[in-house]
Amino acid sequence: MIVTIKAARLVLGMICLGATWLLSQAAAPPPPSTAQVALGWRLLADRRLSAGLNLACLDCHRPDRGYADGRAVATADGLNTPTLYGLADRATFGWFTPEVPSLEAFALRPLNNPREMGPISDASLDRLRADPAMRVAYADAFPGAGERITWTQTAQALAAAIRTIPNPRVGELSPAAVRGVAIFAELGCGACHRGRTHSSEAYLNTGVSRDSRNGGNARVPSLIGLAQTAPYFHDGSAATLADVVRAYQFGGQTPGPGVNVAISPFVITDGELQDVVAFLANL
Ligand code: HEC
Ligand code: HEC
Repeated sequence: MIVTIKAARLVLGMICLGATWLLSQAAAPPPPSTAQVALGWRLLADRRLSAGLNLACLDCHRPDRGYADGRAVATADGLNTPTLYGLADRATFGWFTPEVPSLEAFALRPLNNPREMGPISDASLDRLRADPAMRVAYADAFPGAGERITWTQTAQALAAAIRTIPNPRVGELSPAAVRGVAIFAELGCGACHRGRTHSSEAYLNTGVSRDSRNGGNARVPSLIGLAQTAPYFHDGSAATLADVVRAYQFGGQTPGPGVNVAISPFVITDGELQDVVAFLANL
């Protein structure tokens, strides 16, 4: 009898597990197809997406510069171009835009920003529709879709491609970088820079500037590929990683009310500062 009850429980348990598995399968979005990723990469490099036919995503997010552009700020918005590394693991997008819900949604912003590639207009889509190669690429990426070459499909393909960007290869930690790991932890940097992308995904004020967007709260950036992505901070105001650490050393570049309590001045020797830099440059 007991055996039968146990067997029944086991069967019931397996049914429940099966149902949970099915539900989890239903909830997960389908992985992008190879054709979607391939289309996305073509679009990232395609200047026909810009209103002036003069700018592609990869002109600012340059693969040879860690998907950033080496400039302090990219446009009159006064914002530094962030890297595209690690975005598959992120939940927040943009320096001051916690309201943007997804990578797909963010991909449309530069297309609609007149200071970047915008304003968005169906004329751009018409240019793509007039190109037989693009018609084939969209048809392969979105088979069975009623309407062809839409902004939704474009954003989906761009996001799919961005999520395939591999993190840069990191070498063995030098002795200096190993010391830097410990100092980084001691200074409390890991309170905000943690996890796979070294970001808590929070928006807060670290006293970089008096920028009033989003109440002065900037998104904690990823620290992936830092060696390639100078200059730093949302306004590009730190030319080097040493400048970043010095800014923290003095409690921010513009200390004062509103700056997060976790940001407070500390004492550090030049050697220790160089150790932290060695660690940061190896992420
Ligand atoms: C003129 C230079 C420029 C161009 C062109 C450009 N970007 Fe950007 N990109 C930026 C800047 C500056 C930011 C920061 C904007 C912000 O925080 O609001 C940014 C932010 C991003 C982010 C957020 C990254 C993060 O860490 O959260 C993504 C994703 C992105 N861009 C994708 C694209 C795509 C896709 C295109 C092409 C459709 C594109 N960008 C074109 C300069 C550019
Ligand atoms: C209270 C949260 C917090 C703490 C603690 C913190 N950071 Fe940051 N970090 C941020 C935020 C937010 C930014 C973006 C600030 C901005 O640009 O306005 C940032 C930016 C950076 C950047 C620039 C990245 C880029 O791509 O521009 C580096 C490097 C960095 N932090 C390293 C450190 C180090 C080293 C420490 C410890 C000394 C530290 N952080 C402590 C939140 C924090």
